[in-house]
Amino acid sequence: MEIITNSPEETRKLGEEIGQRLEEGDVVSLTGELGSGKTCLTQGIGIGLGITEVIRSPSFIIVNQHHGRVPLYHIDLYRLEDSSQIYELGYEEYLYGKSACVIEWGERIEPLLPPEHLSLSFTWLDETRRKIQFFPSGNRFQDLADAVSQSCRLAR
Ligand SMILES: Nc1ncnc2c1ncn2[C@@H]1O[C@H](COP(=O)(O)OP(=O)(O)O)[C@@H](O)[C@H]1O
Ligand SMILES: [Mg+2]
Repeated sequence: MEIITNSPEETRKLGEEIGQRLEEGDVVSLTGELGSGKTCLTQGIGIGLGITEVIRSPSFIIVNQHHGRVPLYHIDLYRLEDSSQIYELGYEEYLYGKSACVIEWGERIEPLLPPEHLSLSFTWLDETRRKIQFFPSGNRFQDLADAVSQSCRLAR
């Protein structure tokens, strides 16, 4: 499944549809070049989780925590130098704890992700358009992706 968004607002709206459906322990891994919309989508996920504070790209820190209906860890691995650094962070609490977790550049720690998770791949098409492909692992995320795609189609 793939969705093309035509503006940052559409990407945030897609994120909101995902966020509304996330539960404790869910992991969403985001892959795509700088400026492709990973943080923008994460902001929408935050809205869907009922988070009221602003979600920004973590600039020097790698992990931000936000409080919503379900707590959210927002991890950005852009500055991760090598994957062994993730062990120093204590990743188990983020990926296997009682929060939802969104990871930008998640492919850098692919082997550590729980077997069931949602991967999204972002492609920059032009100034205002992004292609977002869904790669759900496991039944729960397959169903979640189907539900999100259906409600996005209805909205158009
Ligand atoms: N359809 C779109 N979806 C998401 N962002 C878009 C879109 N069109 C333009 N943009 C712009 O692209 C940039 C995406 O930045 P960001 O979400 O921080 O990317 P990343 O986290 O992948 O580096 C923002 O400046 C945003 O305004
Ligand atoms: Mg980002």
